[in-house]
Amino acid sequence: MKIAFFSAKNYEKKIFDSFNRKSNHKIVYLEPHLNEDTVTLAMGFNAVCVFVNDNLNATVVEALAGFGIKLIALRCAGYNNVDLETASRYGIKVVRVPAYSPYSVAEHTIALILALNRKIYKAYHRVREGNFALDGLLGYDLNGRTVGIIGTGKIGEVVAKIMKGFGCNILAFDHVQNKSCLEMGVKYISMESLFAESDLITLHCPLTKETHHLINSESLDKMKKGVVLINTSRGALIDTKAVIKALKSGRVGALGLDVYEEEGDLFFEDQSGNVIQDDIFARLLTFPNVVITGHQAFFTKEALDKIAETTVENITEFEKSGTSSNEISLTMIKK
Ligand code: NAI
Repeated sequence: MKIAFFSAKNYEKKIFDSFNRKSNHKIVYLEPHLNEDTVTLAMGFNAVCVFVNDNLNATVVEALAGFGIKLIALRCAGYNNVDLETASRYGIKVVRVPAYSPYSVAEHTIALILALNRKIYKAYHRVREGNFALDGLLGYDLNGRTVGIIGTGKIGEVVAKIMKGFGCNILAFDHVQNKSCLEMGVKYISMESLFAESDLITLHCPLTKETHHLINSESLDKMKKGVVLINTSRGALIDTKAVIKALKSGRVGALGLDVYEEEGDLFFEDQSGNVIQDDIFARLLTFPNVVITGHQAFFTKEALDKIAETTVENITEFEKSGTSSNEISLTMIKK
């Protein structure tokens, strides 16, 4: 297979080359994101390999079909950035990496929780400057606190397990109850009750039409004053303008983000020499109780290896059989 590999980063080229040694697909690494402006780069290939901030809307997918692209290989789990209906209409198969390391994202979620609670980001700078004062660094015991998890799939389950270890009470909302979560004592309740009862809320559901802006001014009003909010899933689960208001009023006591709804133009690049044009993002950066990382929750060695291994396997399976066990089918989405 001849693959146009969009949004390529140096750290993944070596890993993909190593896992591709046996299959010997021809991978051409391209730095740009795939979108309406760059789609012509896919001409002459059989497949495209894409990541979270490539935008495969209907126009892009139609263009890919026109170039004879047969396969869209996502090197991530989420598929909200692909117009699946259009892909299906043109007979383009879409495959993904359904699970690589739930531990990577779950452990990063805990890193955000602890950094915010114990103000590690402030302490780091203070100590380096010889300031050992403790004012402003007061945290609280996580033991005995109530944590609300929205989405108890692979990542939510690991978060529940770790937070159980801290001695937290775990509440959850999901359309499907996870057996392991039930066994460890997670209590499933309505979304409304989860909002009202949780000291900390962490999001681990996919971005869909239903979950878009799940956290908005209405849902924020239902939360406890000073609630800690964590999002390592997808940026658009949160209405950022509403959360800024809630930070200003004190309704949200701390916010930890690894994703941002308009991250496509910002994340994964060194922007340190540029003026940030996104005023909403810039406002978020001014809060003393907000910690943001740039979509790095997945970024562990184990996860990168698994992503490369599964993606190459998906492509090889498609080449041999015209399908793959990791294909995203429309029926699966519509369920
Ligand atoms: P999963 O598919 O194992 O679990 C998702 C869970 O969300 C399922 O139990 C599902 O029933 C539930 N869900 C679906 N709609 C819901 C709704 N409306 N309300 C409540 N729950 C709902 O997925 P996994 O592997 O746990 O990943 C979760 C999300 O994490 C992904 O969708 C992706 O957006 C994000 N992610 C972020 C990464 C990062 O680097 N920041 C890396 C990998 C995934």
